[in-house]
Amino acid sequence: MPAQIIDGTRIAQEIRKEVGEQAEELKRTKGITPGLAFILVGENPASQTYVRMKGKACQELGFYSVTETMPGEISEEALLEKIKEFNREPKIHGILVQLPLPKLIREQKVIEAIDPSKDVDGFHPYNVGRLVTGHETLKPCTPAGIQELLLRSGNDPSGKHIVVVGRSNIVGKPVANILLQKKAGANAVVTVAHTGAGDISRFTKTADIVIAAMGKPGFLTGEMLKSGAVVIDVGTNRVNDPSAKNGYRIVGDVDFASASKVAKAITPVPGGVGPMTIAMLLKNTLEAAKNLAS
Ligand code: GUN
Repeated sequence: MPAQIIDGTRIAQEIRKEVGEQAEELKRTKGITPGLAFILVGENPASQTYVRMKGKACQELGFYSVTETMPGEISEEALLEKIKEFNREPKIHGILVQLPLPKLIREQKVIEAIDPSKDVDGFHPYNVGRLVTGHETLKPCTPAGIQELLLRSGNDPSGKHIVVVGRSNIVGKPVANILLQKKAGANAVVTVAHTGAGDISRFTKTADIVIAAMGKPGFLTGEMLKSGAVVIDVGTNRVNDPSAKNGYRIVGDVDFASASKVAKAITPVPGGVGPMTIAMLLKNTLEAAKNLAS
């Protein structure tokens, strides 16, 4: 049987509609419009695209948003000062500093400067700590989106063995922590495999659900999967393609052709995890606005 294609675009649209309705209600009952500030440092083309798309999504839902663009040579001090300004600004409920940052700026210092109640990325150690200890918090957007994709496509992770490949602070570690929670919609047995593991397939072959987040185009093939596994592809790799309009195309970390022959369900790239990140950012911003209002 062909694999179920998990339609992230449709599921993200469903969430955006729900968030839009709740934002309307917040406006009507409390007079509050969710507000999000983006900080974009330097000229990384992928980061520029992501911030543009996120800003557009805010506009569509009637959120207030501002984008602060800063040159790549900006000092760390100037960036920290800008964050402090947004921390104080009552119209702003969420602050997103697009990563990666230029090498001379210490990323962790920047993340820690954001008021944890406005940390819609869920990267601040306060929010990371709350997540790890099983408390309500703002959760990182891509990992939270993966959980929603699983649940809304009928692939509840509860009791399943999940192998996450990749241990980044943005995806691997937080998705493992979210799915490990002793809660409905999570409650999975989680293994985190990574570059230190040697042959990754000895882990992925045992998985009911594989989350590929290692940033290596087409790395995970059908041979590395158990028959009937659910495959979530987090990869967004730009590879050169002279036949494409802009000279490149986006491919995932999964070799879709071989994996989709073995998997029960699989996310495509594009149109899988990607749209979920933006939907969850809107959800987190609404959440932050509600929290700050109460
Ligand atoms: N760069 C890649 N993914 C993300 C993300 O989720 N948030 C931020 N701030 N930067 C990113």
